[in-house]
Amino acid sequence: MNIAIGCDHGGFEHKNAIKSHLIERGFNVTDCGIYEKVSVDYPDIAVKVADEITSKRCDLGILVCGTGIGMSLAANKVKGIRAAALSDHFSAKYTRLHNNSNILCLGGRVIGIGTALELVDLFVDTPFEGGRHQRRIDKISEIESK
Ligand code: RB5
Repeated sequence: MNIAIGCDHGGFEHKNAIKSHLIERGFNVTDCGIYEKVSVDYPDIAVKVADEITSKRCDLGILVCGTGIGMSLAANKVKGIRAAALSDHFSAKYTRLHNNSNILCLGGRVIGIGTALELVDLFVDTPFEGGRHQRRIDKISEIESK
């Protein structure tokens, strides 16, 4: 599985820890930056990770900013992206099972790195359940096309 990751200055340490963790687990990781801790605008990184998904170069994405919220707002503006900002294990699992979310957004100022790695594992290891949930996702796509 190919995974795209990115962060702003609020999620730099978390992103690097997530990158090492995923590589250690055998995933191919595309790092969309940032590569040093400088202040950047989170939409610039969100769109890079989103493009990796919509182009199908990557299967899933992970974005980290201070709260996870700015990244999710920006990424969700890209057609075909379902980005979920969360900080608990139940949501990390069910946003894959039910929403087929393709980007996980985490808050580097909200959760510790240990929790972040657990949420990442749940997100990348949980498959979409399909069935009635596909119908609901199709309705999201219809809204997007209006
Ligand atoms: C940057 O200071 C901060 O606003 C950003 O990382 C994020 O939390 C936005 O949602």
